[in-house]
Amino acid sequence: MNKILVTGGTGYIGSHTVVELQQKGYDVIIVDNLSNSQIEVLDNITAITGIKPQFEQFDLTDAPKTADFFFRHNDIKAIIHFAAFKAVGESVDKPLMYYRNNLVSLMNILQGMSYNNIPNIVFSSSCTVYGQPEQLPVSENSPILPAMSPYGNTKQIAEEIIRDTLNSTKLNATLLRYFNPIGAHESALIGELPLGVPNNLMPFITQTAIGIRQQLKVFGGDYPTRDGTAIRDYIHVVDLAKAHVVAVDRMLNKKSKKNLEIFNLGTGNGYSVLEVINSFEKTTGQKLNYIVVERRPGDITEIWADTEFANNELGWKAEQGVDEMTLSAWKWELALEARKRS
Ligand code: NAD
Ligand code: WQD
Repeated sequence: MNKILVTGGTGYIGSHTVVELQQKGYDVIIVDNLSNSQIEVLDNITAITGIKPQFEQFDLTDAPKTADFFFRHNDIKAIIHFAAFKAVGESVDKPLMYYRNNLVSLMNILQGMSYNNIPNIVFSSSCTVYGQPEQLPVSENSPILPAMSPYGNTKQIAEEIIRDTLNSTKLNATLLRYFNPIGAHESALIGELPLGVPNNLMPFITQTAIGIRQQLKVFGGDYPTRDGTAIRDYIHVVDLAKAHVVAVDRMLNKKSKKNLEIFNLGTGNGYSVLEVINSFEKTTGQKLNYIVVERRPGDITEIWADTEFANNELGWKAEQGVDEMTLSAWKWELALEARKRS
C-alpha cells in the first residue's frame, strides 16, 4: 500500500480527502496540530471508512519535529499539504502569523522531502491568486494578480517557493487552485467546523437557518452581475477531495507531463449569492432571514473556473451541483446541532 502524508488532515478539505484516499486503498498518515480542527474527526473518518488513519500531532513550523517525522517516515510516497491558516480578514490583522505558519511549514516539508527522497507533493493553492481576472473563465494560464491579503500572498509566495525548489531538486509538485469549496460528506460525519463567526457564505447561511446567527448579510447588491450580487464557482468538497486522489494517482503512476503541474479545481459554473440562497431555501425548505447590505471591502465581483485542462488532462470533473452542495451543508449543520444536544 502506498503511504500518503496528509498535512491538515483533520481539517475541512483534508478530512474529506483522507476518506477518499482510504477508500481508494491508500495508507494515510495525518499530521495536524489541531489549531483549527478537532481530534474527534479521526473517529468520524474511521466511522466512514472502517480504517483509523495514523495520526501525529505537532506543528509543522517546528523544524526539528518535522525533520524527525520525515526521518521516521521516509517511506512516504506523496504528500498532500493542506495545513495552513486560511482566514483572509485575520491575515490582514496578523500578517506575520500567516506568513510564518503557511510558509515556514511548507519550507520544512520541502526540506524533509528532499533529504529523504520523498518525490511528490500536492499543494493546496487557491483561486485567490487570480484576483479579479479581466477575462472569464480563468484558466491556469491567466495572469497572477497582486494579492488582496497576506493570506492570498502566502499562496502566491508558496507557489514560487515550490517552483524554485523544483528547479534545484528532483521533486515533483501539483498545485491545485481551489475555487469555493462548500458542502459536506453525505454521511454528515465530517464537514466544516468554523470557529466563531464564519467569514464564508455557506456556514453563515446554515448557522443563520439553524438560529445560531440572527441574519445573513448579503454583501453588495449593486455588482454588475445578473442579480446584483457577487458570483463565485462553488465546488462540492467531496468532488474537490476526489481530485486530490486523481492528482496523487497521476504522480505515482508517472503520468505527469512536467515536474510542476497546475490545475484549477472548480465546476466551471458561477453562482451569485442570491442563487446560492435560493438553492438552499429550495433544497432544505428553510426560509432564510437575510438582508442586502453594502459590499465587503476586498471582494471581487465575479470569478469562475475554466475547467477544460483539469477535465481533459487530469481526467477529473466535478459531479455535484449547487443543490447537492447546499443540502449537504444543511445536513451537516443539523448533525452538528444534534451532537451538541446529545
Ligand atoms: P482547515 O483550517 O479546516 O484545515 C487546515 C488544517 O491544518 C487544520 O486542521 C489545522 O489545525 C491544520 N494546521 C494549520 N497550521 C498547521 C501547522 N502549522 N501544523 C500542523 N497543522 C496545521 O482549512 P481547509 O478549508 O481544510 O483548507 C485546507 C487548505 O486549502 C489550506 O491550505 C487552505 O488555505 C486551502 N484553501 C482553502 C479554501 C477554502 O475555502 N476552504 C479555498 C482555497 C484554498
Ligand atoms: C462568497 C460570496 C461574499 C459571507 C474566500 C477567500 C478565498 C478562498 C475562498 C481560500 C462573496 C458573499 C459571504 C457573508 C456574503 N479561500 N458573502 N455574506 O470571499 O469568495 O473567498 O474563501 O483560499 O481566498 O477569500 O468566499 O464564502 O467568503 O464569500 O454575502 O456573510 O459570499 O461577499 O461574494 P470568497 P466567501
